[in-house]
Amino acid sequence: MARKVPRRDDLEDTVAIVVGTRPGIIKMSPLIEEAERRGYDHFVIHAGQHYSYELDEAFFDDLGLEPPAYRLDEVEETQFHGEQTAAMLAGIEAALLEEQPRAVLVCGDANFNLAGALAARKLGMVVGHVEAGLRSNDWQMPEEHNRVMIDHISDYLFSPTEEAAANAREDNVRGEIVVTGNTIVDAVQTHIDIAKTDSTILDDLGIDAGDYFVLTAHREENVDDEAVLSDVLETIAELADEYDRPIVFPIHPRTTKMLEEHGLYERATGIEQLRLIEPLGYLDFLKLLANCSLVLTDSGGIQEEACILQVPCVTLRENTERPETVDVGANVVAGTDPADVLSAVESMCDVETDWSNPIGDGTAAEQVVSTISSTPATWEE
Ligand code: UD1
Ligand code: UDP
Repeated sequence: MARKVPRRDDLEDTVAIVVGTRPGIIKMSPLIEEAERRGYDHFVIHAGQHYSYELDEAFFDDLGLEPPAYRLDEVEETQFHGEQTAAMLAGIEAALLEEQPRAVLVCGDANFNLAGALAARKLGMVVGHVEAGLRSNDWQMPEEHNRVMIDHISDYLFSPTEEAAANAREDNVRGEIVVTGNTIVDAVQTHIDIAKTDSTILDDLGIDAGDYFVLTAHREENVDDEAVLSDVLETIAELADEYDRPIVFPIHPRTTKMLEEHGLYERATGIEQLRLIEPLGYLDFLKLLANCSLVLTDSGGIQEEACILQVPCVTLRENTERPETVDVGANVVAGTDPADVLSAVESMCDVETDWSNPIGDGTAAEQVVSTISSTPATWEE
């Protein structure tokens, strides 16, 4: 096979920042801003895993980011995890070959991160994994496979907490582990005041601060299977009945698709008090979350943001890779069974919201960029 691997000495002193999904854009935005602030050469590759305006460009607008230097298309056409990852691997590799950066940063556990890390590893570039070391220990989850694989092929593992760093150490990873906090803290700190001032979402929805719940659900294990999704809806119906207050549900396109495919959309719209709305931009979502009395979610990022914003969280999963949020009393992992969810909601409605945030102090981006920009120009394996 023709070798197209760049010579190490020829790599450019620039870093590629790979994004590809809604949370990826949000969590990488502080790094992009920090690289800009320092004048450190960088460019963004958008791997195209998310492509609808409301999961993609809306965040470039809200976060004030320049359009990415590279944006892959055709990923939208793919159906399976392997096929999707392969399409992004090929596209990212082509962009990396063109630019020859010496370092590549990925963030999180979605398929595009595995594609980015693998493309960079194969080209001998320095691989940095932001949000390294998280573990749900649930080997059924695609995100768990991705995290484990990315951690093992990274040169730098930027772990949000000591606990995450310990997970990575226990896995005998090769790279250097640096505990930085999670960049979501940086993102929330930068945007929460703007969100509180600028967003009119509560008025638009006609709801009052402190008098509604927020719901999000998009995980494969919760929405793809008809019986599970139906159970989730019945749980929400019971909750709506019991608490009789608006439950605002900005709905992920995957969930809309599955509700339609399983013939459950009308059941969802028929639940009194359940307010199905389009996915929100970042400022609107932060304002909605900051002012609710409680959030029910299967999202990783929202468990973190709720903890940062002192909002009680009930996680609609059997496990979490963010146990620090549970340890400080900000989050209860309830699963989706109605009795368990109702009992978790009851306990969290009365909880004192005075925990300290265990996932970072808002300097993660500074630490990551500082480490990456001072790595040697040629990397010794
Ligand atoms: C992906 C991640 C998940 C992350 C989530 C963030 C993996 C394995 N999953 O899940 O960890 O929590 O992103 O939101 O990487 N769709 C659209 N428009 C889009 C994107 C998706 O309509 O812009 C619909 C399509 O029908 C698509 C489905 O959502 O088939 C699933 O999208 P995909 O990116 O494969 O997974 P997510 O569920 O978004
Ligand atoms: N989010 C948003 N609008 C919404 C729902 C979520 O801006 O309507 C943001 C939220 O603030 C968080 C991120 O999206 O930062 C979480 O993304 P998601 O739940 O899709 O993925 P996960 O974090 O589970 O990977």
